[in-house]
Amino acid sequence: MSGPASSSPPAVSVHGLERAFKGGIKAVDGLDLEVREGEVYGFLGPNGAGKTTTVRILVTLLKPTAGEARVAGFDVVSQADAVRRNIGVALQEAAIDPLMTGRELLRMQGALHGMKGAQARSRAEELLDRVGLTDAGGRRVGQYSGGMRRRLDLAMALVHRPKVLFLDEPTTGLDPTSRSALWREVRSLNDDGTTVFLTTQYLEEAEQLADRVGIIAGGSLVAEGTPAELKAHVGEPTLHVDLAPESDVAAARVALSAVGPLVDCQDDARVAIRAARGKATVPLAIRALDEAGIAVESVEVESPTLDDVFAAVTGSTLEGATQGASADQAEVPA
Ligand SMILES: Nc1ncnc2c1ncn2[C@@H]1O[C@H](COP(=O)(O)OP(=O)(O)O)[C@@H](O)[C@H]1O
Ligand SMILES: [Mg+2]
Repeated sequence: MSGPASSSPPAVSVHGLERAFKGGIKAVDGLDLEVREGEVYGFLGPNGAGKTTTVRILVTLLKPTAGEARVAGFDVVSQADAVRRNIGVALQEAAIDPLMTGRELLRMQGALHGMKGAQARSRAEELLDRVGLTDAGGRRVGQYSGGMRRRLDLAMALVHRPKVLFLDEPTTGLDPTSRSALWREVRSLNDDGTTVFLTTQYLEEAEQLADRVGIIAGGSLVAEGTPAELKAHVGEPTLHVDLAPESDVAAARVALSAVGPLVDCQDDARVAIRAARGKATVPLAIRALDEAGIAVESVEVESPTLDDVFAAVTGSTLEGATQGASADQAEVPA
C-alpha cells in the first residue's frame, strides 16, 4: 500500500515468462508483470488461465521453459534457496496429515524452518491466535471445516515471517462468512507489511483485496491496473432515469441530452445518459427534468464492474463471477 523505500527491489518481477508442458500446451505464455513491495496483487483469471503454473514457478516448485522471474530480488531458478527463505506459500491442493492437530502442524512447520522447540511452540500459539484457531488448535485437522483449513494453511505459510506471501485461490469453495474472515486476515497481514500475491477467479475478491489486478487469460496478461483504472478503461458510468407512468419520454430525452450523451435503452419508460461525473450527474439530471416538467420515479448511476472489464478484454465472463452492478440508487420523491 504505502510507498516502499526506493532502494528495495520489486517483490515480484516477471519478464517473458513461459512454461510449456508436454504436448505443446503453453500454460504460461509470455508473461510480464511486476508487484511492488507492500502491495496486494490480484492475479485474476478463469480456470486453466495459467494462475497456478505461474505461482508454482514463482515459489520455485516448477522451472520456467523461457523467460525469467525474481522474487524479493532473487532469481527463482539460480537463487531458489534465497527465494524460499523470503516467501510463504498456501497452495490450492496442499496435502497435510489429517490426523495431526493444527498446533502440531504449526510446531512442525516451525521446526522445518529451523526454530528451536520453545520458539516453535510460542510461534505456533501466536499464529493460532492470529487466525482464530486457538480453541481448535488441539483438534485433528481432518475435522476442520474448509474455512478452518484455509486459515491453518495461511498460518503455516506465515511461520517464518515471509516478506512475500503467495495464496493460490485462498477462498475457492468457502462460504461467504469464511471468505470474509480470510479477507480480513489478508488485509491485516498486508497492513503489517507483507506483500501478497493472490490468485483468484472471483472478481469480488480482486476488487475487495487487491491494490492492483492483473487479468490473465491463455497464459498472459490481458489487462492490468487498479480496480478503478480497469473499470474506467471500460467506460463511463451510466445514469438511468425511470420516468413516472405516462411521462413524455421524447421530452425527457431532449432534456437529458443536454446533461450527457444519450445511451440506448431497452425499456420504454427509461432514459439513460453517459454520466462522466458519476453521482454528481444526478442533481443535474433531476433539475433538467424538473425544468421540463417531467415526473421522475427513480434515478440510478451504474458503474462498470470488473466483470465488464473481464468481458471487454477476454470476450467472455468469469465462471466464478458474482453478478452485482455497483449501483448507487437514489429514490426521487415524486
Ligand atoms: N503438469 C501439467 N501438464 C500438462 N498440462 C498442464 C499441467 N499443469 C497445468 N497444465 C495446463 O496448463 C493450463 C494452465 O493450468 P493452471 O496453471 O493450473 O491454470 P489455473 O490455475 O489458472 O486454473 C491448463 O490448460 C492446464 O491443463
Ligand atoms: Mg489453479
